[in-house]
Order: sequence, then C-alpha cells, then structure tokens
Amino acid sequence: PANVGIHALEFYFPTKYVDQAELEQFDGVSAGKYTIGLGQTKMAVCDDREDINSISLTVVQNLVEKHNISYSDIGFLEVGTESIIDKSKSVKTVLMSLFEKSGNHDVVGIDTKNACYGGTASVFNAVNWVESSSWDGRYAIVVAADIASYAEGPARPTGGAGAVAILIGPNAPVVFDQGVRASHMNHLWDFYKPELASEYPTVDGHFSNTCYIRSVDACYSLFAKKFSKRYSPNPEQLFKVQEIDHLAFHAPNCKLVQKAFGRLAYNDMLQDPENEIYASVKEFAKFGHSEESYYDKGLERGMMQFTKAEYQKKVVPSIYASTNVGNMYTASVWACLSSLLSSTPDDEILNKRIGMFSYGSGSAATFFSLKVVASTEKFRDTLQIQSRLEDRIKVTPQVFAEHLKLREETALLKDYNPVGDVSTLAKGTYYLERIDEKFRRTYIRA
Ligand code: ACO
Repeated sequence: PANVGIHALEFYFPTKYVDQAELEQFDGVSAGKYTIGLGQTKMAVCDDREDINSISLTVVQNLVEKHNISYSDIGFLEVGTESIIDKSKSVKTVLMSLFEKSGNHDVVGIDTKNACYGGTASVFNAVNWVESSSWDGRYAIVVAADIASYAEGPARPTGGAGAVAILIGPNAPVVFDQGVRASHMNHLWDFYKPELASEYPTVDGHFSNTCYIRSVDACYSLFAKKFSKRYSPNPEQLFKVQEIDHLAFHAPNCKLVQKAFGRLAYNDMLQDPENEIYASVKEFAKFGHSEESYYDKGLERGMMQFTKAEYQKKVVPSIYASTNVGNMYTASVWACLSSLLSSTPDDEILNKRIGMFSYGSGSAATFFSLKVVASTEKFRDTLQIQSRLEDRIKVTPQVFAEHLKLREETALLKDYNPVGDVSTLAKGTYYLERIDEKFRRTYIRA
C-alpha cells in the first residue's frame, strides 16, 4: 500500500487545569520560574474519576464518532503508555469493550510500555503492520495516553494528562517518510517508576534534560544522513534544519523544546562552521559534542537566540497544547502534532515536511518525518484544540494539590467508589464508576 500515514487524530485532555503563575505563588518559587523558565502556562489535572483506561476509552470513542468509523473496519489497535494499573491486563483489552457491539474481535496489537516513547513505538508497529504481508486491508488505531504527575518538589509543575488516538492507513493525507527513522536507545536511570504502588516516578530531572539533548544529537545527525540519501536531490549536499518546515518534539516542558530546536541548528553548524550564515554562533563550534557542550549556558542561550525567529514559525504552533496541558508522557509528541495540524492552514502545510522527535527516558528516542500530501482541513475541523482548551475549568493550586493527594491515597484501592465530581467532565468522557472487591474497574460515559 502507498502513502501509509495518518488519516485522523483525536486529542483528549481533562477539563480541569491549574494556572502555572498561581502555582508559582503557591509553591513559593520566584515569579516566572514555571511560566518563563519552563515555558508552561497551564497544567491539566484529574481527580480519582479518571485513569489510563478511562482516558483511552474516551479518546477512541471520540475518534470513532467524530470520523464515522465502524469498529469492524479496525484490524489493529495498540496502546502506548507508561501508566500501569492492572499490570498483566493491557489497556488495549479494556478498549475491546468498545468493539463488543460490532462483533469484531479480530484486532491485533497490544500495549507498548516505555516512558514517553511507548506511543511512538506503537505508531511504528501500526505503520509496519499496514506495510506488511499481515495487513488485511483495515485501519490501525494507536492510542498514546498518560496521566503525568510528580511528588511534591521541582518536577511537580511539569505534570499533565492527555490522550491521543491516531488513525493509520494507506492513502493518507499525512504520510510517514520511509527509510528515515533514526533511533538512539541506551540504558539510563534518568526517570523510572520502581515504586509500583505509586503513580510518581523516581526522576533525576537535570540529568533527564541532558539525556534528552544527547538523544537529539544522536538521532538528528543520523536522520540527516538517512534523509539526504533518500530524499535530497543532491545527497552530497549537507542536510540542514531549513529542509524541514514544521517540527513537533516530545515536550516535557516547552523550554526544553526550544533548547532542542537550537541544538538542531548547532548540529548543522558543526557540519559547516565556515558557512557565513553561522558567523554569529561560530564561536561555539569549539565545544563540538564535548561533555561541556551539554552544560554551557552561553552556547544554549546563543543557539536559542540564533534560532528564535525560526522557532516561532516552525515549532511554536506545535507546543500550544503542551504549554496549556503540560507533559502527557507518551501522548506528548502526538499532542504536539495534533496542535500543529489543528491550527495550521493548508497554504502553510500542504506539501510540507514535519520533523518529529520522540524521547522516552530510560532511554528510547527516534527522529523521523512526515509529509503532508493532501488537505488537512478535517484535522482543523475536528480537533478544535484552541477553543476546547479555552473552555476548561480553572482550579486553585490548593485544589490541584488535593486532587493529587486523593489520587495518591486511592490509586490502588479495591472495593472503592470514587468521589470526584463528575459534573465537571466534558460530555462524552468516560469516568471510573467503581473498583470492586476484586480490583475490577467499571466505567460510565458522561
Ligand atoms: N524567571 C524566569 N526563569 C526562571 C526563574 C524566574 N523567576 N527562575 C528560574 N528560572 C529558569 C531557570 O534559569 C531554568 O532555566 P534554564 O534551564 O534555561 O537555565 C528554569 O527556569 C528551571 O529552573 P531550575 O532551577 O533549573 O528548575 P529546577 O531544578 O527546580 O527543576 C526540572 C527543573 C529539572 C526540569 C524539573 O522540573 C524536573 O525534574 N522535571 C521533570 C523531569 C523532566 O521533565 N525531564 C525531561 C525529559 S524526561 C521526561 O519527559 C519525563
């Protein structure tokens, strides 16, 4: 099949949010630390009514309804997540309850787990399935979803929650470039969840930021080589970020995304330091890929300054959702793509290329690209991200802290009836009704 890619996207986020400027005050940190220092505006929060199953149910059912898809037409379904509740029982099997009425149980795929990267791995599995001899002519759906929350402390303002459902098949308007996926995977302890009774990770925050940037370097330089070989009219010519029109990065915080974009230009410059376009930043070439290059603030700021205008144009449309929702772990990079497609008109995106960088701690990372080959009008019509984000309910930092406390205390209970106020949920949202004496969860749709 030709042009395997994305036919539709659906993005779900909780209706409640906390304002990051108010959170700065509440936490007693200096004004601007979260909003300017981390680039975060608002953060989504849920009480005990939502979990990984409910947000996945919501996003899949909304996708299917908005796009008039029949459950019988789905032959593949995978969930990429790092939010684990029933351990051996996958979220995918919970989602099969939605297929019940259609009688379709012939749906391959299962959950893929890794911090922030499981969704991307599932997307690759889906694309591979459609391109393979196993394909049976039907669509694939991938769900990337997580509820991201941290213990009290410096990482707490980088939480969030969201779910993206991605409909994949041939002859799509947004097509995966073939032969250019460039990955970098290694064994690191930057972020992991060893405490099985807690939703909170064990995280080495500053180390994880450096791991992210190291992976940007490794994946991007490999991508540049693969892309030139496959798509450049003159493969001898050095690849530069200018060849990519839009970018979507995994966004743990939006400031890190800006640093990552600067780092792409830094990698380009190291390949071609004498080029006059780099005259103002050539002084940083001395750092090369040394250890120091990851810590030098002058280099980091210099490259952010150098790429400022391009960043506005190529990256800012994709981080609109992230700055307003927060980190969504596996869903983050796909929420960035949704954000971009939801707001960019055809004349700015048709026949253009989108670069994507997915990073998951531990670590697993890939740089890859997409090409827009047909109108993306239906993405704009159905996603409506801006208006839906504006329509949310603000809670105080105190209520935010209470919601997290409630989740902490009730996350793994059995024989439990959740207490969260269901009247705040958007119409069509699945919520947890009860966890019975055998830990079995039941859901209702608002
Ligand atoms: N006004 C403007 N900027 C400010 C202010 C202020 N008043 N105060 C601080 N800042 C800036 C700092 O200079 C810094 O920016 P810089 O790094 O560009 O210099 C930024 O705000 C953050 O301040 P720090 O002191 O570095 O913050 P802290 O150490 O408290 O925590 C961290 C930041 C490590 C990112 C923390 O939030 C964290 O651990 N987050 C979770 C880990 C994470 O998301 N890692 C990313 C990859 S892995 C993943 O996706 C989970």
